Amino acid sequence: MITQQDLAFDQQHIWHPYTSMTRPLPVYPVVRAEGCELELASGERLVDGMSSWWAAIHGYNHPRLNAAMKQQIDAMSHVMFGGITHPSAIALCRKLVAMTPAALECVFLADSGSVAVEVAMKMALQYWHARGEPRQRFLTFRHGYHGDTFGAMSVCDPDNSMHSLWKGYVPENLFAPAPTSRFGGEFDERDIAPFARLLAAHRHEIAAIILEPVVQGAGGMRFYHPEWLRRIRKMCDREGILLIADEIATGFGRSGKLFACEHADITPDILCLGKALTGGTMTLSATLTTRRVASTISDGEAGCFMHGPTFMGNPLACAVAAESLAILESGEWRTQVAAIETQLTAQLAPCRESAQVADVRVLGAIGVVETHAPVEMGRLQKFFVEQGVWIRPFGRLIYLMPPYVIATEQLSRLTAAVVKAVNDPSLFR
Ligand SMILES: Cc1ncc(COP(=O)(O)O)c(C=O)c1O
Repeated sequence: MITQQDLAFDQQHIWHPYTSMTRPLPVYPVVRAEGCELELASGERLVDGMSSWWAAIHGYNHPRLNAAMKQQIDAMSHVMFGGITHPSAIALCRKLVAMTPAALECVFLADSGSVAVEVAMKMALQYWHARGEPRQRFLTFRHGYHGDTFGAMSVCDPDNSMHSLWKGYVPENLFAPAPTSRFGGEFDERDIAPFARLLAAHRHEIAAIILEPVVQGAGGMRFYHPEWLRRIRKMCDREGILLIADEIATGFGRSGKLFACEHADITPDILCLGKALTGGTMTLSATLTTRRVASTISDGEAGCFMHGPTFMGNPLACAVAAESLAILESGEWRTQVAAIETQLTAQLAPCRESAQVADVRVLGAIGVVETHAPVEMGRLQKFFVEQGVWIRPFGRLIYLMPPYVIATEQLSRLTAAVVKAVNDPSLFR
């Protein structure tokens, strides 16, 4: 039960992601989630097009995930990870090591995607420090998104993340223009020149290149040509610079491959995973690296990797993550994601006829409709709820990232709502 007083309290006292305390937008009370539907306090059910920010890939209230958590809770919900290990962490890390490229042998478990990125950046800094050649800069693309903590923010798009607000506090990293060669299109050689120039000019300062492989997510929902990754991998090998792949959004099948790096058949030196790692049930992330990087760090001045949060390797999160990976191991996700891709491609195509729409693109279980004008967030959100769907657009982007288990009719409801929305000019600024 949620009362009007509860909602008033929420508006007065509770900060939601990226919201104002003086001009709060309405929030919708969800009391239950089942399969691919969210149930509101009013009893209405919404088809979920977001997978709770791309994490709930198997849908909600999944019996296998629930059972894994219940079993773990009866044994222990948490125990410290310093000087202690436990079966769930070992089971999970075994699976992670087995399903990622062979060179990625060493796993660091952390609390959230942003922290996995902090850990990856720290690994790169410590690696160079241990080599007696400290390097402190990162090279990345514009339109990237890597999280909201300060290190992660320093490699997010400088405009989207308002670097001007944090000037002097957030490290100044190097930003190349975002790739323009699109996924599925021709690779334009000219695309890479500014990136290569920036790399050449700063080659002795750069600790690592960090990027979201193939899909730039929250920074613009852009899909770029995998050739970019092959070229960058080669540049990194030539210069000895580390490559960090942030697969927090793309990992575990979202782009049609288990990991987006597979589109280019490359292995990063450091890989960040999160979001769908626990099937969207609990917060957990992992940063994997090679034996070479791990040994270099470990043999450096600190004698260890300098990170160790209180809830590192939380057993409950590890147990459910191991079970989520076991579900993926059946391989069913491949057919599910391919079917979603086909359906999104067909059913979002009519959006192209709307004057509001600048672009429509689909990759794996990601469908994006980019509009010319920014959406009227409050109004569009209400419109979608009235259509019986949960879709959370941002800026000029209306996108769908449903759970992989979504039924054809449920996905049709989502796409129909998007098509209807882009034909209503009152929903755009
Ligand atoms: C690519 C990428 N990296 C990092 C993050 C940050 O993850 P979290 O929100 O769990 O801190 C996100 C979140 O959207 C992301 O998409």
